[in-house]
Amino acid sequence: MVLLKSFFVFFVVFVQSSLGAPPSRKKPDLPKAAYYERIGNSKVFVFKSSINSTVFSQIIGNDKNRKNDDSPFYTVNLGTLVSKFQEWQREMPRVKPFYSVKTNNEPVILSTLATLGSGFDCASKNEMNMILGNNKLTTPENIIFAHTIKPEKFISHADKMGINKMTFDNEEELYKVKKFHSNPRMVLRINVSDQTAAHKLGAKFGSNPITDAPKLLKKAAELGLEVIGISFHIGSGATKEETYGIGIKYARDLFDKGLELGHNMTLLDIGGGYPGNDTDEEISLQKIAKVVNTALDKYFPESGNYEIIAEPGRYFATAPVSVTANIVSSVEIKAERITKKPTDSNITAYSYYLNDGVYGTFACKVADFCPTISSFPLFPKNNQTQYISAVWGPTCSDSDLIEEQTNLPHMEVGEWLYYPYMGAYSIVLATDFNGFERAKGYYCIDEKSLQYIKSRKAAKSDLLSVLF
Ligand SMILES: *Cc1c(COP(=O)(O)O)cnc(C)c1O
Ligand SMILES: *[C@@H]1O[C@H](CO)[C@@H](O)[C@H](O)[C@H]1NC(C)=O
Ligand SMILES: *[C@@H]1O[C@H](CO)[C@@H](O)[C@H](O)[C@H]1NC(C)=O
Ligand SMILES: *[C@@H]1O[C@H](CO)[C@@H](O)[C@H](O)[C@H]1NC(C)=O
Ligand SMILES: *[C@@H]1O[C@H](CO)[C@@H](O)[C@H](O)[C@H]1NC(C)=O
Ligand SMILES: *[C@@H]1O[C@H](CO)[C@@H](O)[C@H](O)[C@H]1NC(C)=O
Ligand SMILES: *[C@@H]1O[C@H](CO)[C@@H](O)[C@H](O)[C@H]1NC(C)=O
Repeated sequence: MVLLKSFFVFFVVFVQSSLGAPPSRKKPDLPKAAYYERIGNSKVFVFKSSINSTVFSQIIGNDKNRKNDDSPFYTVNLGTLVSKFQEWQREMPRVKPFYSVKTNNEPVILSTLATLGSGFDCASKNEMNMILGNNKLTTPENIIFAHTIKPEKFISHADKMGINKMTFDNEEELYKVKKFHSNPRMVLRINVSDQTAAHKLGAKFGSNPITDAPKLLKKAAELGLEVIGISFHIGSGATKEETYGIGIKYARDLFDKGLELGHNMTLLDIGGGYPGNDTDEEISLQKIAKVVNTALDKYFPESGNYEIIAEPGRYFATAPVSVTANIVSSVEIKAERITKKPTDSNITAYSYYLNDGVYGTFACKVADFCPTISSFPLFPKNNQTQYISAVWGPTCSDSDLIEEQTNLPHMEVGEWLYYPYMGAYSIVLATDFNGFERAKGYYCIDEKSLQYIKSRKAAKSDLLSVLF
């Protein structure tokens, strides 16, 4: 165990210092000391008691002020990740998560989830290597190659790494897999689509559960390929929990058809689509769990010894990550320019320009994965008068608009804006378009969560000793 525990003098120094902070800033009440530990290759700040992302971001912001460093940053709170994992296990104890790596592939998030006992949904050779490469975070059974359209080279690579579980939704893929994999265990993906989802994956993936899927089961049997189960993904940013129940019922019908054809059907994969925003009133993990648990009891009872998995992405990645960017320009304008209402021509408003934008960490904005992001000042303002405001990113593109219209106190150049719930489809999509640097990450955890992770590690094989 590489345990780099050093009392964190530098924290104590900047906690006591208010150098660099403009006079309007309140000095936040910060924890007095922390040490750090390495998880994977990342330096993680460990706090004695529970630490929320806002306070941790304030600590980093304060330190940057002290160093005259205005570069954008994000924070990852592993304590939040642990809570999400515990919530998942509480709500759906029969469903093992296989985290979707594409949502956020920060090594420390992958390591932590692996230690907690998560499997992984990988869609490419590189994603397989992130999990099973040098760091060997888990074993191949804990990976599903969950892309139905697979380059031949990726299939051979999966074979080489011992990854056998793969999804498919068309006949062509069966021939390819037969040729390039020595021991495939296929999972048939069906189209079960929530039409309210922000991303209707059914438009691209999944066979029709009534007309096509039975034929594909038959074709696989003819080719001598083993089908071990059914998967679906109701869509990302979905709002109708009933859709999971519909999918599970379709899966039951197809299990029965598969069994008739001689397939050893044991795996049910209920995909992704669980919300990342835990204050959303429309949908919640609790609401989904009710539907899923009821449908599982009815169609896949515990006595049947089924392996039930899911592929949550945004559910785990969203809440632990917050993004903070610095104001490069603060321009007074007429509110009319923002509201487009001529009657607002005499109302004062502000346009802010940040050093991170939709070609950076806010990329989810363009990809429509984070439609409701909203900011507040990292350091609370004394003067709370709110003004209509627009928040732009740094590039020369007119699409680089983070918030079209919001209310903020008057902010000045050099101050920080803070955005919580930013971990999904953000960092992974960021570019350095126009030469603007990407945000850098800082990681934290509280001692209680760290102890929990370590206790989970102790319960497992020494394979996971690489994590610490
Ligand atoms: C993207 C993706 C996921 C994760 O979706 P979320 O809505 O973020 O939970 C899961 N499975 C597959 C196959 C995906 O493509
Ligand atoms: C974070 O902690 C601070 C200080 O304890 C508290 O004022 C704030 O409300 C907390 N924020 C959240 C989102 O819990
Ligand atoms: C997937 O199913 C939905 C309805 O559940 C349907 O609207 C959509 O067209 C289907 N996709 C394809 C490619 O057939
Ligand atoms: C079916 O699959 C399960 C799970 O992999 C396995 O335990 C069982 O032995 C298999 N049964 C047959 C008949 O192959
Ligand atoms: C979460 O959902 C609530 C309620 O729908 C909404 O007000 C809030 O803006 C959302 N937060 C984020 C970060 O998406
Ligand atoms: C602002 O302008 C509108 C017309 O453009 C006028 O009706 C309104 O009285 C003005 N308000 C103030 C506070 O001057
Ligand atoms: C708040 O700021 C506005 C302008 O920035 C100013 O007009 C107002 O007097 C300030 N209020 C207080 C209480 O300082």
